[in-house]
Amino acid sequence: MKRENAMADAAQAGLVRAVGVSNYGATRMRRAYEALARRGVVLASNQVEYSLLHSKPERNGVLAVCRELGVSLIAYSPLAMGALAGKFGPDWPPPDLRRGRYGRAFWAKAEPLLATLRAIAAARGKTPAQVALNWVICKGAIPIPGAKNARQAGENAGALGWRLTDEEIEALDGAAEAVDASDQLLRLDEGYARWRLS
Ligand SMILES: NC(=O)c1ccc[n+]([C@@H]2O[C@H](COP(=O)([O-])OP(=O)(O)OC[C@H]3O[C@@H](n4cnc5c(N)ncnc54)[C@H](OP(=O)(O)O)[C@@H]3O)[C@@H](O)[C@H]2O)c1
Repeated sequence: MKRENAMADAAQAGLVRAVGVSNYGATRMRRAYEALARRGVVLASNQVEYSLLHSKPERNGVLAVCRELGVSLIAYSPLAMGALAGKFGPDWPPPDLRRGRYGRAFWAKAEPLLATLRAIAAARGKTPAQVALNWVICKGAIPIPGAKNARQAGENAGALGWRLTDEEIEALDGAAEAVDASDQLLRLDEGYARWRLS
């Protein structure tokens, strides 16, 4: 628990206002929470990948333990690197390293989910990106989309101030389950790391 002690030292010295971790699994997060609590410090957040195309935190215990302990789940890549924004497709692949991940097989598999997203967005007068981000919010997590310009930032801010209905969430959950892209398509790999740094 060397790392947690160092974080508690920083908090107690007033160097940081809150302590958060990233990519911690459920067991490791619980241990970190307990180690910090022994020092009187609260674990504020755990930042993990979470989106309609990567809903693993719902199955590996991370979301449940966050809820139980009152730790905020900060969802990175909530738009699955843009794949949920509706601007890419089999005939409009990403122009960069993401193309390797999002090939034709991916779009064929993801289309039912993307169609559900588009239908809910159209009915709501929202965009697919706003619906995808609102889904994360409705799960009790905090999405941190990677806007690349002011237009995207403005659009993403439109995910705030409203909520999907239970029926809409259920429809998205069902469509997302059928895609289940967490392991094959969106794992952190060398290509992903290179895209993030490009
Ligand atoms: N803790 C970790 O291990 C970790 C790992 C990865 C990321 N992160 C953090 O998570 C944050 C976001 O991650 P991410 O960049 O993967 O998030 P993301 O929001 O899933 O993907 C960002 C991409 O989505 C597209 N996009 C965003 N908003 C859009 C909109 N309104 N309309 C159309 N396209 C839109 C942009 O694509 P274009 O470039 O094509 O415009 C952008 O490059 C960053 O702060 C990052 O540092 C943390």
